[in-house]
Amino acid sequence: MNKVTIRDINVDNKKVFLRCDFNVPLDEKLEITDKTRIIAVLPTIKYLLEHNAKLILCSHLGRPKGEVKKEFSLAPVAKELSAQLGKEVKLAKDIIGQDARALTSNMNIGDIVLLENVRFDIREEKNDEEFSKELASLAEIYVNDAFGTCHRAHASTEGMAKYLPSACGFLIEKELKALGDALDNPVKPFYAILGGKKVSDKIGVIESLLEKADKLLIGGAMAYTFYKAMGYEVGDSICELDKLDMAREIMQKAKDKGIQMLIPIDNKIGKEFKPDTESKIVKYNEIPEGWEGFDIGPETIKMYINELQGAKTIFWNGPLGLSEFEQFANGTNSIAKCLAELPNCTTIIGGGDSAAAVTKSGLADKMTHISTGGGASLEFVEGKKLPGIECIAEKN
Ligand code: 3PG
Repeated sequence: MNKVTIRDINVDNKKVFLRCDFNVPLDEKLEITDKTRIIAVLPTIKYLLEHNAKLILCSHLGRPKGEVKKEFSLAPVAKELSAQLGKEVKLAKDIIGQDARALTSNMNIGDIVLLENVRFDIREEKNDEEFSKELASLAEIYVNDAFGTCHRAHASTEGMAKYLPSACGFLIEKELKALGDALDNPVKPFYAILGGKKVSDKIGVIESLLEKADKLLIGGAMAYTFYKAMGYEVGDSICELDKLDMAREIMQKAKDKGIQMLIPIDNKIGKEFKPDTESKIVKYNEIPEGWEGFDIGPETIKMYINELQGAKTIFWNGPLGLSEFEQFANGTNSIAKCLAELPNCTTIIGGGDSAAAVTKSGLADKMTHISTGGGASLEFVEGKKLPGIECIAEKN
């Protein structure tokens, strides 16, 4: 990466605007259920504090669509940050209003102010120029470390970089290095595991992986679109009927390139979308009407574990089943365990649901890298330019 990082700039006694991705999951009591994204940015925050900065933190949380709503407040994040840092993180009541201005106008070295959810202002997602200027006017330096939001060209992730000297934080640097090193020139054999609901969501990634991977293992509901494209019935399973040609093209392309593309040979199916629904195991061509495929089956798990042996690099994105329901989490958990035990293999987990599933299974520290970005890591793997990184100044 040739972008300016916080190591290259002088932050001494300066007001630094640090865009983070504190878009963390909350339960009904508004308590944070996964702190990964907060912990991931602490090295940057600590570095800036150690180098005498005055910190203005900014993030979105959820999609409040320009409305101020209590359930999207960053208050739980301010509380958690204060606990993690052992010092007060003041939460402004607004973003660029009276309270934010008052709190950020007379800051001392080491002070930390967290602005309220930047998506409470509709102009954020519109990348509005005036709003970008107003955000920039709060600080003297702009630092982006919100890797998870780098694929969005919003005011706080892209627009405001025009008006201040800019740099990346350590999280962005680490993500780009881990994803770039592993995927630009992967140590072979390189296998990719793709799950999730829709083929259409992953088409860019599949196209890109077909250029690099030696094997492609498919799971999740997207398998049923491939089944249908091959002429099998899928019962009531999720299936993109308008993407059958796309699925056939992918399979043909894999064949032409000599890439082994593996589709589940059996499935765990359920009657209804609920945790304790009646369930059974069936072969790939035996999903009856009135039943839905919710997980890869035991024979597929065995086959995939076998196929993954000997890999030197693995990229995994998307759960292989409905992993939020215990009885359909076996595929995802078994593959996570397999990756954790593979010797001498670089394991990269694209963020989002697969990262959450690996974290839940307690195997996170056994993986080489778990990205904090779902959409952002996918777009990076697709080879797309990420606006939140493009806007940062290049090193001379
Ligand atoms: C994410 O969780 O993927 C990022 O925080 C981006 O959120 P968004 O999809 O609402 O833009």
